[in-house]
Amino acid sequence: MYHNYDAVVIGGGGAGLMAAAQISPAGSTAVLSKLHPMRSHTGAAQGGMGAALGNHEEDLWEWHMFDTVKGGDYLVDQNAAEILAQEAIEAVYDLEHWGLPFDRTPDGKIAQRPFGGHTRSYGEGLVRRACYTADRTGHMILQTLYQRAIRNRVDFFDEFQVVDICAEGGTCQGVIAYEVATGELHTFRAKAVLVATGGFGRMFKITSNAYSFTGDGPAMLYRKGIPLEDLEFFQFHPTGIYKMGILITEAVRGEGGTLLNGEGERFMERYSPNLLDLAPRDVVSRAIHKEVLEGRGVEGKEYVHLDASHLGREAVEKKLPDIQDFCKTYIGIDPAVDPMPVQPTAHYAMGGIPTDVDGQVLQDEKNTAIPGLYAAGECACVSVHGANRLGSNSLVELVVFGRRAGRHMAKHMEGTDFLELKPEPQERIREELDRLLASEGGENVADIRRDLREVMMGKVGVLRLQDAMEEAVRDVRELKQRYKRVSLHDKGKRFNMELLVALELGYLLDIAEATAVAAAARKESRGAHSREDYPERDDENWLKHSLAFQTDDGVELRYKPVNITFFDPKPRTY
Ligand code: FUM
Repeated sequence: MYHNYDAVVIGGGGAGLMAAAQISPAGSTAVLSKLHPMRSHTGAAQGGMGAALGNHEEDLWEWHMFDTVKGGDYLVDQNAAEILAQEAIEAVYDLEHWGLPFDRTPDGKIAQRPFGGHTRSYGEGLVRRACYTADRTGHMILQTLYQRAIRNRVDFFDEFQVVDICAEGGTCQGVIAYEVATGELHTFRAKAVLVATGGFGRMFKITSNAYSFTGDGPAMLYRKGIPLEDLEFFQFHPTGIYKMGILITEAVRGEGGTLLNGEGERFMERYSPNLLDLAPRDVVSRAIHKEVLEGRGVEGKEYVHLDASHLGREAVEKKLPDIQDFCKTYIGIDPAVDPMPVQPTAHYAMGGIPTDVDGQVLQDEKNTAIPGLYAAGECACVSVHGANRLGSNSLVELVVFGRRAGRHMAKHMEGTDFLELKPEPQERIREELDRLLASEGGENVADIRRDLREVMMGKVGVLRLQDAMEEAVRDVRELKQRYKRVSLHDKGKRFNMELLVALELGYLLDIAEATAVAAAARKESRGAHSREDYPERDDENWLKHSLAFQTDDGVELRYKPVNITFFDPKPRTY
């Protein structure tokens, strides 16, 4: 089947919906999502969205920008961080005017809470900057944006898995999608395409990420010769439920919850004397990891406690209702009474598809844009997070840069005609699907996926070493060989979820290989890339972004400079 739309958005999460809301007044817009949009992972974001509204105490966008740059260990592109911090404020008010029910201060302003690394006066102490709706802020953003898109008559193609992005000859012409209900392929011609498919945390064993976070968009572009930026920086959120990885929001600590080791000690006093439990995530995750390694986990196990019991039942029920619910449901405890068992959980990809500040995809180290091809949200690297994202900067990033990408797409569409697709555009992907369905090699998708997640967690995790990362590269390459021999039990066309999971595993394997290669190459510690053998940051040699290209000979790394405008790199203490 063939469709023509001025714009196609791949992914129905916050970035995709925000962009669709901007584009749709200017032209026909389709959102293609492998899930129902309301099941997108934005809905799992809990604690808040950072913007310097200053509703409780003075706050300035310049402080927000500084915190973002320092939090990212100076690998942040500062032109992008400036836009993020400035436009966050208007973006929050847009959402408010579109109906987002933020929590309120007693005098009716949007309520804000402190999050890790958000400070006043360039590092003097914590400021309340995260705007929130209890602990379901992402869910509310998703609802608000979906309603906005429906109002704007965006067409939704739910359970359509995009399987190819037609980006030939330095331009983008459209996409090919697989309709999950029927197994049919659809070709969408478009003047502009936005990739907004989210992250790829499912390559790790312990993760807060939804099953759908398998790096589809980044991997599809990577296979087309478009590089992936800064993959070695993957964030571990300090507080995932022990063994399950389910997110326990930083807002628990923002509301006054504390971390305690097995000896009942408030160990963050030793790692971050100023910000304590609200140090940035890389600092807190490393601290938990070290406590556990040195035998101070609770009962000698791989977790510590997050205690919110002193906040009182009313505060827990009012401010953290979902957390209370998750804990009761999954581990049978009530955080109003009992401490929560937590460990670092793979949470967020700082790296991804390189883009400029209008979401245009960049294809090389000279920042050459591909006309008509855009990316926004977690799958993109603009780069506002550098080596470590601050909590509450992801929701604001997807709203600010989703909005900018949407506006740029609308302008691009005005002066553009549909481009010709190459002849038989579905042919390549049809062959790939047929090969997967016909293969009888005997390897099982679930086994390879389990092994991948073990490798990445064990060897490219919170603390890293050269030998282990090199081993991870070899292990992932072996898994890629096994993947070539994968056999599917389900050969059918309707709702063949096994086929989809196999495709997703292929994407994860490609991204995992590039991640391990980029990590092994970076011989310094910076933000979330923390090495025991190179414990210091090395600005002289490594103040640069990595770009991983897929070539016939494997992963090729190139580098490009960081954009530094206001804040020169300094030692990072908290
Ligand atoms: O902790 C949290 O609520 C997560 C928010 C985020 O990743 O920004």
